[in-house]
Amino acid sequence: MIKLNNYPTKDPVLVTCGLPYASGQMHIGHLRTYVPADVFVRLLKKMRVDVTFVCGSDTHGTPVIVKAEEEGLTPKETYEKYHKVLADTFPKLNIFFDNYAHTDIEENHHRTLQIVNTLIDNGHIYAKEIETPFCDTCGRSQPDRFVRGKCPYCGSDARGDECDQGCGRYIEPGLILEPRCAVCDNPTRPITRKHQFLKLSAFEDFIGDFLKNVDGTKNARNFALGWVKEGLRDWCITRDLDWGIKFPGDDSLVLYVWVDAPIGYMSSTEVWAKKIGKPKEWEKYWKPGNGRLVHYIGLDIVQHHCIFWPAMLKGSDYNLPSAIVASGMVKIEGHNFSRGRGYVVWVLEDYLDRGLDPDYLRYYITSYTSQTKDLDFSWDAFAEKVNNELVATLGNFLYRGIHFTHKHFGEVPEGKFDSKLKKEVESAIETITDAVNEYELKKVADEVLRIAAVGNEYFQSQQPWKLVHFRRTQQRTQGLGSVI
Ligand code: MSP
Ligand code: ZN
Repeated sequence: MIKLNNYPTKDPVLVTCGLPYASGQMHIGHLRTYVPADVFVRLLKKMRVDVTFVCGSDTHGTPVIVKAEEEGLTPKETYEKYHKVLADTFPKLNIFFDNYAHTDIEENHHRTLQIVNTLIDNGHIYAKEIETPFCDTCGRSQPDRFVRGKCPYCGSDARGDECDQGCGRYIEPGLILEPRCAVCDNPTRPITRKHQFLKLSAFEDFIGDFLKNVDGTKNARNFALGWVKEGLRDWCITRDLDWGIKFPGDDSLVLYVWVDAPIGYMSSTEVWAKKIGKPKEWEKYWKPGNGRLVHYIGLDIVQHHCIFWPAMLKGSDYNLPSAIVASGMVKIEGHNFSRGRGYVVWVLEDYLDRGLDPDYLRYYITSYTSQTKDLDFSWDAFAEKVNNELVATLGNFLYRGIHFTHKHFGEVPEGKFDSKLKKEVESAIETITDAVNEYELKKVADEVLRIAAVGNEYFQSQQPWKLVHFRRTQQRTQGLGSVI
């Protein structure tokens, strides 16, 4: 295996996390993105890397409109409600962003229009008539999550824009088979409508090269390369909806949520820069130069980050991601994640509100399995890991070490570092540095546990309580009195 030495680095690093839709509470599936990203940021800080960590709520698109209709609220009221809940939940999980924004802020509207206008000026966008689903019963166009049908690629039951039950692919408007309205369940009828397209097909070679060089996890790269090999279709970037950012020059269409959502990474960085009193500082990440962009996401949104997003950035002359780190998906006790069927663990009501410590969950998520594998959550496995590893090994080591030192010395006493132990610590630092370079934080957790076990064994074999006793007796006989 090639050994990468990206970190530590002198280059500034921006770490982002997939923006949660402001249409619901946080669940344990989300944490598979946020916890590893936060741990990664902490590790970079320990390496003294100049790192900034941003995120925000995703306020547009059909997920927010569907929720608003369910709750009898406007989309704005809906996102305001859930944005607040989400923003308040992160610090309770010991996740601290340098900035947490949302995608309806002025900065995001401005940056989105700037990027779309640049794409238009650079000749990357064109208009085309397509057929999209219209529901006569509901009396409106039903894009994306407002329609269900069969995936044109794998035949599974799917949402209008995403094969959520099968192959996970993005589905272009009008392509879903046997479409039915998700609100009233009646079959929809195709209507012809002019939409705007990003010429993704022209970016095929560029995306292929980009993917060969981008750092991060293999799953992200390989999935995306597979799609590129099949050929890239142009991407419809508008929707027939009222809620969203209007397409410049045509007020009857809004931009597809996946246009302005990743731009939220940028506008959140802009807000951070203003906050620290250096309004141009965001450019060190986003304008071509030394700044590095590292995106943490789940496997479900690889296509958006590995194909659509780099094409948008390239076409509007911005910096490209240097790493895309995709996690495997979270399942619940062997079942696919589903709110409807009750296979979900809510961060607040099922965990934090029951008085459970956030660090237990952070440890479980980081150490349970490799970053790219699915994680099957079970309370039994959670309890076992916390009891056997955190409490019995790490907790025991810290408690013994700290308690013993405090009791007998009140401070860390002078002494010689055992050379064998020093080697163990040096080797742990090396393993952890390698793990950071592989974006494999399970290895970090495992190594910390290993070093704790080494410490426990050392403590046991050296029997320091006997030494303390010996020193005491010696001092007494030498007439020094008791100093320890
Ligand atoms: N709003 C989009 C992301 C836009 S990024 C420019 C979205 N939101 S989400 O709320 O559905 O997901 C937020 C993050 O959590 C994403 O990184 C997503 O991959 C991750 N996960 C959400 N559910 C998940 C699981 N069940 N398992 C693992 N990760 C998942 O997608
Ligand atoms: Zn499919």
